[in-house]
Amino acid sequence: MGIYYNEKSQSFNICAKDTSYILAVAPCGYLAHVYFGKRLPDEDLTYFLRLNENPFTPLTNDRDRASYLDTLPMEYPTFGTGDYRDCALKITDENGCSTCNLEYVSHKIYGGKPSLTGLPATFAEENEAQTLEIECVDKAVGLKVTLLYTAFEDLDVITRSVRFKNCGDKPVTLTKALSACVEFDDCGYDMITLNGSWARERQVERAPLHHGKQLIDSMRGESSHQNNPFVALVSHNADEDSGEAYGFGFVYSGNFIAQAEVTQHKKTRFIMGINHADFSWLLESGEEFIAPEVVMVYSCRGIGKMSRTFHDLYRQHLIRGQYKDKRRPVLINNWEATYFDFNTEKLISIADEASKLGIEMLVMDDGWFGHRDSDNSSLGDWFVYEKKINGGLKHLVDEVNKRGMKFGIWFEPEMVSPDSELFKAHPDWAIQVKGRPMTLCREQYVLDYSRKEVRDYIYSLMRNILDNANIECIKWDMNRQITEAGSAALPKERQKELWHRYVLGVYDLMERLTTDYPYILLENCSGGGARFDAGMLYYSPQIWCSDDTDAIERLKIQYGTSLCYPCSAMGAHVSDCPNHTVGRNTPFETRGNVALVGTFGYELDVTRIPQQDRDMIPKQIETFNKYNSLVRTGDHYRIGNMFKDNTWDAWMFTAKDKSEALLEFVQVLGRPNERSRRIKLKGLDENAYYYEENAPDVKISGTALMNAGINIANLWGDYQSRLYHFIKA
Ligand code: GLA
Repeated sequence: MGIYYNEKSQSFNICAKDTSYILAVAPCGYLAHVYFGKRLPDEDLTYFLRLNENPFTPLTNDRDRASYLDTLPMEYPTFGTGDYRDCALKITDENGCSTCNLEYVSHKIYGGKPSLTGLPATFAEENEAQTLEIECVDKAVGLKVTLLYTAFEDLDVITRSVRFKNCGDKPVTLTKALSACVEFDDCGYDMITLNGSWARERQVERAPLHHGKQLIDSMRGESSHQNNPFVALVSHNADEDSGEAYGFGFVYSGNFIAQAEVTQHKKTRFIMGINHADFSWLLESGEEFIAPEVVMVYSCRGIGKMSRTFHDLYRQHLIRGQYKDKRRPVLINNWEATYFDFNTEKLISIADEASKLGIEMLVMDDGWFGHRDSDNSSLGDWFVYEKKINGGLKHLVDEVNKRGMKFGIWFEPEMVSPDSELFKAHPDWAIQVKGRPMTLCREQYVLDYSRKEVRDYIYSLMRNILDNANIECIKWDMNRQITEAGSAALPKERQKELWHRYVLGVYDLMERLTTDYPYILLENCSGGGARFDAGMLYYSPQIWCSDDTDAIERLKIQYGTSLCYPCSAMGAHVSDCPNHTVGRNTPFETRGNVALVGTFGYELDVTRIPQQDRDMIPKQIETFNKYNSLVRTGDHYRIGNMFKDNTWDAWMFTAKDKSEALLEFVQVLGRPNERSRRIKLKGLDENAYYYEENAPDVKISGTALMNAGINIANLWGDYQSRLYHFIKA
């Protein structure tokens, strides 16, 4: 490991495991990007800046700096001085002008990784990572900009963020303050993005870069169903196992932008950060701002290796709390079982049956508070709806506990219904623009979480609930996006800070909650998976993947999610059929096998499903328990790809020491003349022999399993699935 500074060339070689990221101080103090890829020794590569190739170098003639800046690969480009590609930083100075120019001042290198105040971020011990801080300054306004880079010793990961401090005596406003810019020397890449919609999250799209800008973003106040804050730039020939892949993940849950721009000289500039549309941040003299973290992963062994690096990073260095390395309780959630139509007796009857089958936790979903019988009321009134929860919450929780089960509860803490005590008392606590009608969505408004008194009030109600019954899990939901972004508490010049202040407010409350109740399992959710992002993983070890619980739809959703998020964080449940989103009927066994990939549970009325399905539950739970440590700690390999061939899917989890592996196969559609399928395994020890658990006498070499494969025979029917457990002989 190491971050090396080469005094002579004034360059930095930031080395993670097998990766180098090199930048240098160019003439006039500009920070320039040199290289990102396979690890290189410490040597001078600054010839890649091609300073002398350009007829307009600043070395000889300062007047020609504009042309120079438009071609120099910039490490953190600013607006207004002749770099006409899209910038990372733009300001408004006291005269109303936007120009900004950064010059290198100094740097320091140290062990470990600093935390980012108020923001989620990956973490590392002093011996696990090294950090480089480069200080730059805009002399004209006195803006200090510190670029932070952390390289992980055991992972091909470099993280970045930026700290801004107004060291001048006049106010400065940041109007664009992105977290990272990476320059590529060519444009021979495909851009992979995860797009979608409600119930169809994180669908994989791959397209070659072309001249101009191609971007994904969110202006919805959350990371969104529509675009996930993740992009991979991969070589045209990259597949799961070979080729180059550069992955960028944003550790943030609000508005974002990620953009690749192919320039006039066929080079690529990639930028990522908080979306600058409707953003500004006023820095009075002495004030600071921190841009959230971007995670950069490099793989020279394909997209699969990139994903596994993200998984390892997020599992070890992002997810926190007592469930970080633990199997999660098998839960049953009553949403699809009852929707709003439940009461104490109904929930106890579900718990009665569920506990007999081995289910370990009951999560009471939406509808237990205020006077909520539909989604038309009561958000913000977090007191128990006695008509439904007759006998009180403690009674219900005690009854569930008596049956040997834990109890979890649903909250939507960021919301308020117009029909609520809260809204009647504090209509100004909802996000709104003075003098304009407020847009309703799912009959609710968003609370102004930029205001501490709003967060404090909601938290006090949550605490009343949590302190009065033995609650061991919270499902934190967020079911609408922001419109009419305005705050009754912010002055005019700070209104555009609301989007980010809102997200900081959410983080603040989640931090307080997880600190005060460390034993509570926090599951995130946002109308399904609209906030499945790395920011949220810092607070909750699992996130509800999608409201679409259909096993076949989930194949694509879970595949896309696995591109950058660990399977162990994916909320996945077995639900009833016909499926409530798509009306499809799939075998109970296949629903179980598909949910096995994530945090396992049930989303059905266990008292009403067919007896033969109910009878399968104990066995399914046994299977989940058997493989869960492999799923949580092993390496994930994608074999099938439903985005290319939607007739079958397969994936694996292989133990880090290669001692065992689980292969899951789903035949989505039965096809004529395809009664068997050859599947090549991945990630095994090629020098070892393995047997499949059900055929202990048949030993096959890892080489044969990976190169020749296994034959899955006698495939018959749609939506069939199989599990194979390979063990080292
Ligand atoms: C969202 C969630 C669901 C459920 C409902 C309750 O849609 O994704 O799982 O909790 O809200 O209103």
